[in-house]
Formats: sequence, structure tokens, C-alpha cells
Amino acid sequence: MARDDDYVLGRSIADSIRLDAQHLLWKLHTGYELHPAIPITSDMKIAEVGTGTAIWLFDIARQLPPTVRLFGFDISDGQFPPKKLWPQNFSLGILDSLTKPPASLAGQFDVVHLRMWASNLRGKDTSILISHFVNPTDVVEEPGGFIQWEEADLVHQLVEGPKAQEFERRINELFGKAGLDYSWVSGLAESIQQGDFRIIEAERSQFKHELVHLCTNTYLMALREILQGIKGILGDQILLSVTELELNLYHLTLERANGIIYNWSPVSLLAQNKE
Ligand SMILES: C[S@@+](CC[C@H](N)C(=O)[O-])C[C@H]1O[C@@H](n2cnc3c(N)ncnc32)[C@H](O)[C@@H]1O
Repeated sequence: MARDDDYVLGRSIADSIRLDAQHLLWKLHTGYELHPAIPITSDMKIAEVGTGTAIWLFDIARQLPPTVRLFGFDISDGQFPPKKLWPQNFSLGILDSLTKPPASLAGQFDVVHLRMWASNLRGKDTSILISHFVNPTDVVEEPGGFIQWEEADLVHQLVEGPKAQEFERRINELFGKAGLDYSWVSGLAESIQQGDFRIIEAERSQFKHELVHLCTNTYLMALREILQGIKGILGDQILLSVTELELNLYHLTLERANGIIYNWSPVSLLAQNKE
């Protein structure tokens, strides 16, 4: 499928359903959608950056007063539900969040939510994103604005089974060649702190027993999309090793019921603009 940006994952119907399944995974893991420490007011404005299918916004819309305004931004509208299905207090739009946002967005939001940006940065420094979105001089300008961020740490993983461990070693080598550097996630809290924010919560954990299989399933699907994406980045030179890894991945998916575990670590973070 042709891509109009350098997003390494897919945007097909299966890819959208995977995002929605990941939403369930996060919801069951954290036990909340909007962090419970964020005070709800009737006139608040909440934005999600890199919103995908907007499933998080749809979920919180059901729980918030209809006067709260909800905004979703993404570099592509390819996974947005049709406009006629949006609640009245919704607005979804195209925006590349790695470039400076328009002045009309500066200081507009009480909460900015980000989730699963791991593959979006592709070796770029997080400070690009943070200086545009997390910095109080940009989107979250009003004193007391919150950043809620849930991320996948693909460096500290829980991988069980010899085939899965060998696959992890080989795919990590490929990530290196494709410039997919996931190490920035470990330093996320420090980067946000440097942007004039107070960290309220920053936690890296592992999925509870009952969620491990859902993470394995959704992650193996995501890796299939990423391998496709890497073909687009690296082209023919790498085709053989990607095809081999695709085959290994296919075998791993067949063996999922035999005790294979392939999990990233969930990182959740809440920070508030220093007043
Ligand atoms: C893995 S999806 C996560 C979607 C959503 N946050 C969720 O958790 O369900 C990452 C999203 O980031 C978007 N994205 C990638 N690069 C972006 C950019 N530079 N600016 C805005 N969105 C971007 C992709 O189009 C995709 O929808």
C-alpha cells in the first residue's frame, strides 16, 4: 500500500483493529482512560496527538460532560472514523506533530494525550516532539496543563521461548539498520521534566498475567506491519532478511498457544505544567 508519510506501521482495517485492541490492553492495564488525577471541568479542552483511530477520545467522550471539547490530531486521517459518527464535541484533523504547530493551537489545551509514539520518532530526538507539544510555550500553555503519555518500551521486553528470543535478537539488528531506535522511551520522564513540567507519575511495569497474551498477540501483529514498513524504508538490499524474519514471525504466531511470550513494557506518565 502506498504511504504518504514515513509511518512504519500500517493503516489497513486490521491495523485499525489492532490499535483498538491495544486500547483495551492499556485500559485493562492502567484501569483508567483519562488519568484520575486530572480534574474535570465542564469547559476543558483535551487534545490527543497522533490519535490513530481516535479510540481513546471516543472512550473518554462517553464519560465526560458534553461541554468538554475533544481534539484529535494525526499526520494522516486514514484511520479516522467517518465524520458523521463523531460526537458533537469532537474535532479530528491532520497535523504533523513533529513540526511547529500553528499559532492557533498554542496554549489551547488543558490536557495533551500521547500514546504509542515508539515507532514514530525513528531515531529523531524526543525533544522535537516535546518542544512542540509538551513545552508550555506551545500547546499546553495555560498553567497547570497536563501531559498524559502511555508508551511501549521495546528495549526492556519480556520474551519467553527460545524461538521468540532468537527472533528478538534478529529483529533488533534489523531495527538498527532501519534507524528504528526505541531507546528514547527510557529517558521520556527526564525529557519532559526539562520542558518545565512536574512529573506526577512515571512508571515502567509489566503486564499482569491475564494481559500478557493480549500484548503478545497485538505486538506480533504490529511487528508484521513494521516488517512491511521496513521494506519500504530499506528497499531491495534487505529484502531477503526481512522475508526470513517474516517467516519466523509467522511461525511464532502459530506457536502462540504453546507458551510463547513476546511483550513490550508499558510506560505510563503524567506530568503537569509548573505554575
Ligand atoms: C501506533 S499509532 C497510535 C494511535 C493512538 N495514539 C493509539 O494509541 O491508539 C501512532 C499514530 O501516530 C501517527 N503519527 C505518526 N507520525 C506522526 C506525526 N509526525 N504527527 C502526528 N501523528 C503522527 C500515526 O499516523 C498513527 O496514527
